Amino acid sequence: MSIKTAIVNGVASIEIARPEKKNALTRAMYQEMADTLVAVNSDKTVRAVLIQGQPNIFTSGNDIEDFMSSPPRDEEAPVFQFMRALVGCEKPVIAAVNGAAIGIGTTLLLHCDLVYVADDARLAMPFVGLGLVPEFASSLIVPRLLGHAKAAEKLLLGDPFTGADAAECGIANAVLPAAEVANHARRVAERFNTLAPSAVRESKRLMRRHSAEQVQETIKVEAEIFGARLRSPEAMEAFQAFFQKRAPDFSKFD
Ligand code: COA
Repeated sequence: MSIKTAIVNGVASIEIARPEKKNALTRAMYQEMADTLVAVNSDKTVRAVLIQGQPNIFTSGNDIEDFMSSPPRDEEAPVFQFMRALVGCEKPVIAAVNGAAIGIGTTLLLHCDLVYVADDARLAMPFVGLGLVPEFASSLIVPRLLGHAKAAEKLLLGDPFTGADAAECGIANAVLPAAEVANHARRVAERFNTLAPSAVRESKRLMRRHSAEQVQETIKVEAEIFGARLRSPEAMEAFQAFFQKRAPDFSKFD
């Protein structure tokens, strides 16, 4: 199984564990994560959720082979179930990020409550470079956090950024030495064992309430365009280029 889940000391952990493919996320992995996040809401033994990858990779984002062979067709596709489950998670979600966090690896962090990144973390939202468009409400949240000009560097140019940049712009709480990130994130998650659980849940809901509708609507609008673009010649060129280990050639498109 490429997603390992466990509940230990009040913390439900979701560990992405497919290092041979740089933790690329398949439909089965999204489904597993979605089911876990939904189950957490009604599990009284769980006070917080911890999402983590491996010591040298958080996730390289959506599995590009899956994008080509079985793109998400409708709202019930596992990736959209995962997005809804993360946005709808009533308990605090803490992320521990080591290594690369690409595509949804970065955009999922926008929906976590507390994010700890390693000093070697490398984040990127290279959607345009793949012939795609931003997803998971990143087209709404990133410009809000950074302003349009800085957001354009990350969403139009697809420039990668460091853990320190992520902390500076408010995507992450703190940058830590790589070896300490997972333990630190777990310690923070376990702090919720000592806090009043329904006060935490209500507070999280209040913090998200103002943007909840807009976030859901944006995810939907982005998904329609993203879905169409997955079948576009530009995206096909980008996907083929990735597997042929070459730069894509967009010169023939207008
Ligand atoms: N989907 C499918 N396979 C992926 C993948 C992805 N998102 N990311 C990595 N892999 C596979 C590679 O094809 C390679 O497979 P192989 O060993 O069978 O050739 C293996 O994982 C190792 O990847 P590689 O690129 O050789 O590792 P690296 O250390 O040089 O680079 C990354 C790591 C994460 C920087 C690089 O793999 C990458 O850029 N991946 C794609 C990121 C991306 O564009 N994601 C989609 C965002 S929407």
